[in-house]
Amino acid sequence: MRTPLIAGNWKMYKTVSEAGDLVEALLAGLGAVSDREVVVCPPFTALHLLSSLFAGTPIALGAQDVFYESQGAYTGAISPPMLRDVGCRYVIVGHSERRQYFGDDDAVVNRKLRAALAHGLRPILCVGETKPQRDAGTAEQVVVAQVQAGLADVGATQLPDVVIAYEPIWAIGTGDTATAADAQAMHATIRATLAALYTPELAQNLRIQYGGSVKPDNVDELMAQPNIDGALVGGASLKADSFLRIVHFRKRSML
Ligand code: PGA
Repeated sequence: MRTPLIAGNWKMYKTVSEAGDLVEALLAGLGAVSDREVVVCPPFTALHLLSSLFAGTPIALGAQDVFYESQGAYTGAISPPMLRDVGCRYVIVGHSERRQYFGDDDAVVNRKLRAALAHGLRPILCVGETKPQRDAGTAEQVVVAQVQAGLADVGATQLPDVVIAYEPIWAIGTGDTATAADAQAMHATIRATLAALYTPELAQNLRIQYGGSVKPDNVDELMAQPNIDGALVGGASLKADSFLRIVHFRKRSML
């Protein structure tokens, strides 16, 4: 059984005081979440505050990126041990915005992912195709290659700590979600890739999130797909009511 994982990616939004206000509202409305996991990934500057606010609550803390060295002369970088120290359990690696604006290629993403695992963090590996790639019919090929490269040299014993997030780039921040059927098809392809790289059993147990304009009005249909195990939520995670509605998505049996 895969426990659904709903993660909010706040991107470069929220000052520390705004972050505190949002978390207060989230915790006030959260209620029981025993059958699903919730993660919030704020900007680095808010990690320390959120770590103390989330203590003893069901929400886990995640970061949006990490560098692959543990320490050293790397101006501006944050290391895996630093994220552990501030209370992070998860870290996003290879988000398309990191790939696009910060030059994170597959090799860098793989180093970040392995460094995260080596220090006890659970990496959320983001993969996804562009619109031209989808239109050209190469989406599956692109995504499979990103999964393979991102997981290079990751052993079978480490795989259970990995989460994959399929985020078609054309769906991020656009309001243009993949159809539930298209997302399901890509997730099944990713799971088959994992089965070939590792074992069918490891592939069955790994969580694959969907990301890209997940909203209160489409989350239930997405989460009803058999291979969709969670959501990575950008814009809709910035307001308590929309994120809480997504966290409380209705399971297939409840629809
Ligand atoms: P979005 O972002 O929900 O605003 O489309 C998702 C993401 O980039 O993780």
